[in-house]
Amino acid sequence: MKIDVLSLFPTMFDAIMSESMMWKARDRGLLDFQVHDIREHAEDKHRKVDDSPYGGGGGMILKPDVLVRAIESLKPETDTAVILLSPQGRLLTHDVAVELSRESKLVLICGRYEGVDERVRDLAVTDEISIGDYVLTGGELAALVLIDAVVRLLPGLLGAEGAQQRDSHADGLLEGPHYTRPPEFRGLGVPEALTSGHHAEVDRWRRRQALKRTWQRRPDLLARAGLSAADRAFLDDLEREARG
Ligand code: ADE
Repeated sequence: MKIDVLSLFPTMFDAIMSESMMWKARDRGLLDFQVHDIREHAEDKHRKVDDSPYGGGGGMILKPDVLVRAIESLKPETDTAVILLSPQGRLLTHDVAVELSRESKLVLICGRYEGVDERVRDLAVTDEISIGDYVLTGGELAALVLIDAVVRLLPGLLGAEGAQQRDSHADGLLEGPHYTRPPEFRGLGVPEALTSGHHAEVDRWRRRQALKRTWQRRPDLLARAGLSAADRAFLDDLEREARG
């Protein structure tokens, strides 16, 4: 996968993209990552990238000529995903990350200030993504979150086969608890089902813990999760217990 980022603060990407899994993805040739400085596409002598909004009001707006030139310098194909990070975009979820992980090239545009001139959307953007219902000072952190969520799904990156399929959200549920050695820590043990050595029992315990945690913390997710009759019976039991 190739990811090109357009930013006014390109050095913000250095630390994250040079460590751990993101570096591994680049080192293994799974990810070709480049960040480009939007300011290099400003043509006046002050290298101006923003201007005040028509109609007044506070804040500055990224200029359409500079930003569209920056996007066009990357020569996106007609089917390239050109994504603006903004609080007005569709929400980044696991399903969106899976969808984007199937693209061969992403262009990510990081806004700053009050926003970007609407004509950039009209002319050069194919998708707009938000990482949550809050406002950041710019799109850089949002782009890094998106990149991390997408790149970890690229085939061949994560060691354990199928690890991504067991993630929280991959099957529409939150993950249940995990344990490792020692068997007792500060008076707290490990659930017997996990040390039983019976795979079917371990699977059943994990499924139920995932259902319980989702029911407790994010019941909104249950409506869209693929639930079996046994799952539903277990959730009915939880409801009954809770009602006393
Ligand atoms: N830029 C500012 N806030 C953002 C958000 N919540 N998601 C994506 N980009 C942003």
